[in-house]
Amino acid sequence: MTREATLIAGDGIGPEITQATLHVLDALGVQIAWDEEYGGMSAIEKAGTPLPAATLDSIRRTGLALKGPLTTPVGDGYRSVTVALRQEFELYANVRPVKSIVPGGRYQNVDLVIVRENTEGLYVGMDRTFKVGGDPKALAQATSVMTRDGCRRIVRYAFEYAKQHGRKKVTVVHKANILKATSGLFLETARLIAQEYQGQIASDDKIVDNAAMQLVINPAQFDVIVTTNLFGDILSDEASGLVGGLGLAPGANIGETAAIFEAVHGSAPDIAGQGIANPSAQMLAAAMLLDHIGELDAANRLRGALETAIVKDNVRTKDLGGSASTTEFARAVARRL
Ligand code: NAI
Ligand code: MG
Repeated sequence: MTREATLIAGDGIGPEITQATLHVLDALGVQIAWDEEYGGMSAIEKAGTPLPAATLDSIRRTGLALKGPLTTPVGDGYRSVTVALRQEFELYANVRPVKSIVPGGRYQNVDLVIVRENTEGLYVGMDRTFKVGGDPKALAQATSVMTRDGCRRIVRYAFEYAKQHGRKKVTVVHKANILKATSGLFLETARLIAQEYQGQIASDDKIVDNAAMQLVINPAQFDVIVTTNLFGDILSDEASGLVGGLGLAPGANIGETAAIFEAVHGSAPDIAGQGIANPSAQMLAAAMLLDHIGELDAANRLRGALETAIVKDNVRTKDLGGSASTTEFARAVARRL
């Protein structure tokens, strides 16, 4: 059966890595009918707005999107399109797998997934300054908002993800010793849900500062990490740095009615148009999309071919120390398929 999905090629290197990804999906033989829409700078040129209604309508209809990086125009009046999409479709789970692929890096055996709550906590936008006497910013205050339902759905998502992907353990990362109300609610809720999975998925919890250190000392001890918005933002960048950086890091934003898959990196204007961008992160994002729609076999074949192309065939783009072009790398992956 052909599944419809929205395709946003994006800005900068976006069209190049998207082209390469489509080439590989073609070789994989999966049936996806792409509805191509625009977002970011290229949408401003075409439709006068960074997030056209047609793009939102398309995602609303398909519930599924593969998105290239979008350049956030600098200047007043534009908010980040990526953040706007998360809010519009209530994409509450941000999922980032982190795996060592390239040999010779700092760690050989990292294979973990960070599940970050994407809508609550300190990112709800209640962040303000107060005037005292003559100082307009004498005091600043941020409010963190957590709901029991929000905690439940993200923790449940993490355990269900673990079950579906053959993972063994979920580590709950928190700061409940200090943030007794907000982080306390998250930990309390998480422990209750962990009990429901006893005997299927193991679980433990760690205070965030210790978790950050443990990630550097011994990342292989982690399997799935579930945490709140700010902690997840920081830990997921930390974790991707353990395994060779941005060119290999995919991410997913998942809600009840829509899911958007993308590379973690941005539009890389410094190398755009040169045909040298690494399309791996976007290809791995496409593999996550395939997982999401139940095409697990196709997703695994794609990940396997990509790894073989990099490790065995030694076809690598410049960021990984090689000299292959974006297109040459795509051909190498397609050949392995
Ligand atoms: P960036 O991720 O675009 O680039 C950082 C560095 O990594 C650059 O040197 C770039 O050449 C390199 N790089 C990134 N992806 C690469 C790839 N696939 N292959 C080889 N090298 C790669 O971050 P930057 O420069 O801070 O942001 C550029 C634009 O992207 C900004 O407008 C920003 O707002 C936007 N952005 C969009 C995101 C999204 O749509 N999800 C995420 C992050 C940034
Ligand atoms: Mg971040």
